[in-house]
Amino acid sequence: MDKYERVIEMAKRRGFLWQSFEIYGATAGFWDFGPLGAILKRRIENLWREFYVINEGFYEVDGPTIGIEDVFTASGHVRGFVDLVVECKKCGEMFRADHLTEKHNGGCPECGGVLGDPYAFNLMFKTAIGPDSKRIGYLRPETAQNIFTAFGRLVRFYRNKLPFGVAQIGKVYRNEISPRQGVIRLREFTQAEAEIFVHPWEKRHPRFGSVADTVVRLYPKEKQDGINITVGEAVEKGIIAHQFLGYHIALAQSFLTDVGIPLEKLRFRQHRVDERAHYAVDCWDAETLTDRFEWIELVGIADRTDYDLKSHSEHANADMRVFVSYDRPKTVEQLVIKPDMGVLGPKFKDMAAKVADALKALSIDQLRGEEIAVKIDGKIVRIDPKWIEYERVTEEVQGEYVVPHIIEPSYGIDRIVYALLEHSFEEECVEDDDARIVLRIPPNIAPIQVAVFPLLSKDGLVECAKRVESLLRQNKLLVDYDESGTIGRRYRRHDEIGTPLAVTIDHQTLDDDTVTIRDRDSMEQVRVRTDEVVEIVCGLLSGDVSFEGAGTRI
Ligand code: ATP
Ligand code: GLY
Repeated sequence: MDKYERVIEMAKRRGFLWQSFEIYGATAGFWDFGPLGAILKRRIENLWREFYVINEGFYEVDGPTIGIEDVFTASGHVRGFVDLVVECKKCGEMFRADHLTEKHNGGCPECGGVLGDPYAFNLMFKTAIGPDSKRIGYLRPETAQNIFTAFGRLVRFYRNKLPFGVAQIGKVYRNEISPRQGVIRLREFTQAEAEIFVHPWEKRHPRFGSVADTVVRLYPKEKQDGINITVGEAVEKGIIAHQFLGYHIALAQSFLTDVGIPLEKLRFRQHRVDERAHYAVDCWDAETLTDRFEWIELVGIADRTDYDLKSHSEHANADMRVFVSYDRPKTVEQLVIKPDMGVLGPKFKDMAAKVADALKALSIDQLRGEEIAVKIDGKIVRIDPKWIEYERVTEEVQGEYVVPHIIEPSYGIDRIVYALLEHSFEEECVEDDDARIVLRIPPNIAPIQVAVFPLLSKDGLVECAKRVESLLRQNKLLVDYDESGTIGRRYRRHDEIGTPLAVTIDHQTLDDDTVTIRDRDSMEQVRVRTDEVVEIVCGLLSGDVSFEGAGTRI
């Protein structure tokens, strides 16, 4: 078994992940999060909220997972969200054209048969809205679009000020062509996305200084070769195009390492031009090195420019601009139209004032032609350019209307869960050559924070252990009470699911009201007073208390 298989075997057995609908033979691309997997996933999402909602101040929204056709026509997904598919003429298997490698010599990777011509396949799941099925809907392929379509409301919520960010976590759906990579490529998965609306040509981040010294490993698009560099220097040298992208690359690194992805297995790779999504001018992927699949993408950090807002503005005829005030008002010289009323009056009589107003509404560009036409009460009226004069005036301008650009970090939560399981999964040889599997998940993510064991299920130890369990639960800790099997087996069971601490109630507890706390990683134990156990466990989990100083070493 390779590491992927060993991790998945443990994940299935211990209730993290399993294939959906197994009793019917399962279908590729659909996985359930079991009891521990669901808590782990939720805790990762909550850490993401700490980063983006609490620290960055991006309010979270929650939109529908079905979108109407207009939205995805405007977004470009109906036309552009396609992969090229090829089908084997012999065995009928389907493959993504860009996933076929040269080693297959142009033949089918499964049976060696001849492959058909590639054709475009749209990855969106299509559905029908309402009982008459006349209205087409699509399951959303990214969470982002309802944030763009609600831009007008959001910009007012944020009191018309740029930059501002909006966060969303939710399910998305992609009808992947041949999801052979197990839990890495799903047809239904969870994204955590932030859409950050920024001034189009002022992409300076107000807090860039706080991340400028962060060292990241970059694979820029031209070289696709690694360099270690601070984000400050990378932006200064133009390797990263601007501060907003730099800031969010550093933030993604900070989040992923807090989750438990080792820094040495993390890199940021810039998309080559031929890889970019239809809406992006630039994109950096946070990738992690896995045992079976090599480097896989966990996060995409894209500059979507004004592509989405402009397109929705055109399709829905909606205003997607925001007025940006200058720091100081600007004095600008402008050419102002002055229709010659001495000529227009006699020519157009009682229509003259309307003609003059229509001319004033035209732009200077529209007045450049040899003949000018305006529409008055449904009639075209032709104007000789000689009847118009211009005047230069200076004006004080307070600001201007802009269509914001969008910077978007898009996290795939399911892949992060898998990467964390793989990176934290260790098999150690301990005494008697008995392998110990230990999941070194950080305590702030672990699905169970503390296990409580009575050494034996007799002599009053159970009652005492239940009291400790209840105290820990009252303090909102994720606790598992376990009295089945030998104490050694119980420790192993919790090592394997990543429980950082185990509290054991033994005979000494009945004598002196003390319990033991065992550390998952070092397997060391300390003895502490029962009335201090909650405080010490909380301190150990948060890192405020060190294990060495927590109690009397056993
Ligand atoms: P890939 O190149 O692997 O197909 P992508 O470039 O299409 O991914 P994005 O569109 O950037 O991915 O989606 C943002 C994030 O969503 C990715 O970084 C990834 O973590 C996750 N993701 C994308 N597709 C899948 C999938 N089929 N299953 C699970 N997670 C996915
Ligand atoms: N929202 C970005 C993506 O799904 O690719």
